[in-house]
Amino acid sequence: MTEFKSSSDNVKETSSKNSFQRPDGRSVTEMRPVKAKVGVIPCADGSAMFQSGKTIAIAAVYGPKKMHPQHQQNPRKGQLRCEYNMISFSVDDRIRPGRNRRAMEISEITKWALEPVVMLEDYPNQVVDVHVNIIQADAGTRCAGINAAAMALAHAGIPMKDMVSSVSIGKLDKTLVVDLTKEEEDFEEGEGPTDIPISMTTSGKVTHMQLDGKIGVKQLQESVDMANVACKEIYEIQKEALKKAVEDIK
Ligand code: CDP
Repeated sequence: MTEFKSSSDNVKETSSKNSFQRPDGRSVTEMRPVKAKVGVIPCADGSAMFQSGKTIAIAAVYGPKKMHPQHQQNPRKGQLRCEYNMISFSVDDRIRPGRNRRAMEISEITKWALEPVVMLEDYPNQVVDVHVNIIQADAGTRCAGINAAAMALAHAGIPMKDMVSSVSIGKLDKTLVVDLTKEEEDFEEGEGPTDIPISMTTSGKVTHMQLDGKIGVKQLQESVDMANVACKEIYEIQKEALKKAVEDIK
């Protein structure tokens, strides 16, 4: 298993950032410890685990295969079908099993985040199924799910133009921080919390961005810059995990 500790402390920090105390003592630009592993579901065509702190996502990919139901087939290109699910034991309060509005929304944004890099034009009338399950949740589950799914797609040998990495940037009162925990998402002082999950390619193209809360244009731009640095670090750990899976086969 490849383990990674963020080293992005050298990112230029403003004085307000420097004085901000995070509950777990991380610097504002520091991600939680990240672990990634590829090939965790042997029956799947591709699979991966991505862990950020206490948040753990497992992704399994099946396909490409003929699209069923048949009326959903597209003769021009293949389709990515993503399903996000939080396992009932992933948080203290048991999650009611089955589809809910939140899971439907995150399934859709997972597809949006990944679709731009997957070469679906190579697979007319076919579908690639991506299943994301969150087995432990402490915020940032959509980002962890996208990171795991991107690795699982690559592991399945699906042609991709680029890799996708994802991280949540938060604004706690007035301060921007990287990779929020649930405790930080519940921050109540001053302007309160703003959550900005961002997914991007290695070349820095944003494939997904959401915003829950309030933020000005300048800080929003700064959030994208912070995500860019964090995503580059996440990409390195995704790449190492994929390389290790290939070496293990040899
Ligand atoms: O997980 P993510 O930050 O992508 O999405 P969220 O909807 O902002 O959820 C934040 C966190 O709330 C989750 O990661 C869980 O820790 C928690 N949560 C929960 O305890 N019960 C739910 N039904 C949904 C979320």
